[in-house]
Amino acid sequence: MNDSKSQTINLRDRILGIEQKVPLLDGRLVSYVNLDNSASTPPLRDVMEALNRFLPYYSSVHRGTGFKSRLSTVAYDQAHEIIGRFVGADLDTNTVIFGKNTTEAINKLSYRMPLPDTSVILTTQLEHHSNDLPWRHRAKVVHIRATPEGRLDEDDFDRQLDKYAGRVALVAVTGASNVTGFLQPIHRLARKAHAAGAKILVDGAQLAPHRKIDMKPDDDPEHLDFVVLSAHKMYAPFGTGALIGPKEIFLQSGPEYSGGGVVDVVTLDEVYWAGMPDRDEAGSPNVVGAVAMAAAAKVLMQVGMDKIAAHEEELVVYSLERLKTVPGIKIYGESDPARASEKVGVIPFNLEGVSQFLVAAILGYEGGIGVRSGCFCAHPYVVHLLQLDDDETSTWREQMLSGDKSNMPGMVRMSFGCYNNTDDVDRLVETLERIVQGDYQGDYRLERRSGECIPANYQEPLADYFLLKGA
Ligand SMILES: Cc1ncc(COP(=O)(O)O)c(C=O)c1O
Repeated sequence: MNDSKSQTINLRDRILGIEQKVPLLDGRLVSYVNLDNSASTPPLRDVMEALNRFLPYYSSVHRGTGFKSRLSTVAYDQAHEIIGRFVGADLDTNTVIFGKNTTEAINKLSYRMPLPDTSVILTTQLEHHSNDLPWRHRAKVVHIRATPEGRLDEDDFDRQLDKYAGRVALVAVTGASNVTGFLQPIHRLARKAHAAGAKILVDGAQLAPHRKIDMKPDDDPEHLDFVVLSAHKMYAPFGTGALIGPKEIFLQSGPEYSGGGVVDVVTLDEVYWAGMPDRDEAGSPNVVGAVAMAAAAKVLMQVGMDKIAAHEEELVVYSLERLKTVPGIKIYGESDPARASEKVGVIPFNLEGVSQFLVAAILGYEGGIGVRSGCFCAHPYVVHLLQLDDDETSTWREQMLSGDKSNMPGMVRMSFGCYNNTDDVDRLVETLERIVQGDYQGDYRLERRSGECIPANYQEPLADYFLLKGA
């Protein structure tokens, strides 16, 4: 596939920094290839333009009386509405709460969700730690198993829902895995959760940039009760995330985090909490981040999530076909191009006999390609996919706890944004082929404490590009 033949989209011109040259170890300059979009996406130019237009008017929101405050307040309120629309929420009954990111949103919900003492939360082995750890302090957490190739074991889901009948308060699942990209059957799980009297939270951090999210009407059995998002994974890296869910849940109690802006009335003895979303947005909000997030959501809606999904699926098919030709490669999760539609554009792999740290380092220093290596904040899932036995796992854990990451297991992950193309995949595959042949220059040293591979005797010329100090 090349982009001219592709029936889908080309959004490269709308990405800031797309042609940015970066230095390689040998001093050459090449255009940067970002295949680390699951971690964070670059900003859309449309977002930057919206901010450039907005920032001259930026001012305090809600309580300011000047023109700029009134304008900023309207922009901030509209940002709530746009994000609600982005996920198909009914804003008569649901609220959009802005915060820092998905992690903060899930932590907030873990404090705000009414949970009787005997509550069980069903989550899965596929989760990012952000949709697992915050629940552990609130209730009994049961992890639904993954199948050997890393899909959700839905039979286990049914069994556990049955086993804990009457106690399951929440099903907390990721919409798409940040390790394998597997899409979860969120609406089918919602139907089952509701039938069992539970609510469902969808961690939309990886879903939002790749697929349309539709919470569906509140009375639809497949309705998603809560959705959480991170703007920095949606081409708007300005420190915002959102939690969308029923107002009535939050109105039942006071916020976990209080201060300015969350009240209607305060006396020395009493507090009357504000309505939603003010009650749950303590302190001065990140108005700029919210405007940026909404501007990005508007672009994604205008381009069309279906077109983005189709483009990325073509890239996954192309990548799986190309990667399979690399000698000694092991692809985790789904490697059959015919099943590319079951995942978003995330492909984890390893090269036989070369540590994931070294592969990622060579791609970065000698290929100008950004990927990620390690366990991607999903240790239980990665250990499962790597099929490590208990002995291997406990040795590695002990070493990690003593501050030595050099034997940490893991993978290399390439992950697409809506703007990547087949040239990006070709650059990666060509560099992997060089690595397999031992055709690289750096004398890489593994730093035990960080697990990073760093080329010896190389002074990275960061100051020539950007540094705050010394400029
Ligand atoms: C599936 C998933 N959930 C949650 C998170 C946490 O997102 P954030 O770091 O923006 O809070 C991530 C981040 O990679 C993720 O991929």
